[in-house]
Amino acid sequence: MPDDSARTFPDRFVWGTSTAAYQIEGAVTEDGRTPSIWDTFSHTPGTVHAGDTGDTACDHYHRMPADVALMSQLGMTGYRFSVSWPRVQPTGRGPAVQRGLDFYRSLVDELLAHDITPMLTLYHWDLPQELEDTGGWPVRDTASRFADYARLVADALGDRVEMWTTLNEPWCSAFLGYASGVHAPGRTDPVAALRAAHHLNLAHGLATQALRAALPSRARLSVSLNPALVRPRTDSAADRDAARRIDALANRVFTGPMLRARYDDDLLADTARLTDWSFVQEGDTAIAAQPLDAVCLNYYTPSVVSAAPEGEDAERRDGHGASSHSPWPAAERVAFHQPPGEQTAMGWTVDPSGLTELLLRFSREAPDLALYVTENGAAYEDKPEEDGRVHDPERVSYLRQHLAAVHDALRAGVDVRGYFLWSLLDNFEWAYGYSRRFGIVRVDYDTQARIPKASADWYAQLARTGRLPA
Ligand code: NOJ
Repeated sequence: MPDDSARTFPDRFVWGTSTAAYQIEGAVTEDGRTPSIWDTFSHTPGTVHAGDTGDTACDHYHRMPADVALMSQLGMTGYRFSVSWPRVQPTGRGPAVQRGLDFYRSLVDELLAHDITPMLTLYHWDLPQELEDTGGWPVRDTASRFADYARLVADALGDRVEMWTTLNEPWCSAFLGYASGVHAPGRTDPVAALRAAHHLNLAHGLATQALRAALPSRARLSVSLNPALVRPRTDSAADRDAARRIDALANRVFTGPMLRARYDDDLLADTARLTDWSFVQEGDTAIAAQPLDAVCLNYYTPSVVSAAPEGEDAERRDGHGASSHSPWPAAERVAFHQPPGEQTAMGWTVDPSGLTELLLRFSREAPDLALYVTENGAAYEDKPEEDGRVHDPERVSYLRQHLAAVHDALRAGVDVRGYFLWSLLDNFEWAYGYSRRFGIVRVDYDTQARIPKASADWYAQLARTGRLPA
């Protein structure tokens, strides 16, 4: 066992937290914002736990300066947030709404005034509803609309934001949104999901081109992926093949085009009975493979798969919500297994070794790019004391183990530049609504009070000292 007290992080390592617009902002009808697919979806009965919506969420839109002050008190040096597309370009087309942009300008100014480096995500799942009405991500035009939107945001904030991320977890947008339907827009069409994946790749490439053209040369561009760390249950050829298939549909469907300008032959062959992929046009993968400066990784838990008996469909067991539709197109006869060990309130097994493995894998796949962990953290059933304080030793233990895993990767020579904990605040956890709390700061949704948990104090100490507390 390595000695934790000896785990020191590099001086310039970024210590941050992560959030997303729809999960925290609220104010969904203010200052010209129009509905996104998540407004429509969450207002559709039966989609989100307890009928929860992001209408108010953490009311961050009105409490932003205090939230930034809190980050500063916690010693944060970075903050990853997302821009709400329908707040700055309500119909997904045409000119920007100045009031929407002003909010993000003030947020960035507030961060910079507190010496907190902003990392801006352009798309964290809130597609303007009007673009879904004209076809959404399965339609090619949406990729061009995204590039135009990227340009508007770059023109407004490019003088003060250096770190840019195009998409957050495109796997979820494509496969939870269009195949299993547990996320907005709630469609259950596997071919639409594959088309969406391709147009997200194209959107990433077109937006990266637009950002390069509009931003100063110091800008650093990236994408945030949630690669599945897929492990075969046994070493049998059949189980290894099941892992290969899920690796293709979870990972290489994005890293192929984005990092290597290609869709791998096995992915095309595995899905051939659903589609001939004729929606991929000549030159598309070259556009998707724009040079980047960094790859951002979100990691929570590994996946264990095996070959399943005939008739058994692939289903995702690690919990994004229940659906009778699989998020894995054409992956029949693959079974998912709960890895052994302790679980979080999401039912996700705690396995920090997966994070080290993922960082090592990406340092091999993208050796010239810096890596960031842009999400990692855990939901637990926090039990506030009488005074409202939350002692959350399980979350502290989760974070300690995963930060040790990041440190293992650093020791192995991986160029990890920062860690953004999910999440600063308890917030709207998509299909789970407010029933799952990931924050290091508790939100009392009745009063909107922010109450730092014990994990916040723990993380603040780490950020201040750069040493993993023993
Ligand atoms: C993935 C997403 O990017 C984020 O929005 C979500 O809340 C967390 N992981 C936890 O599920």
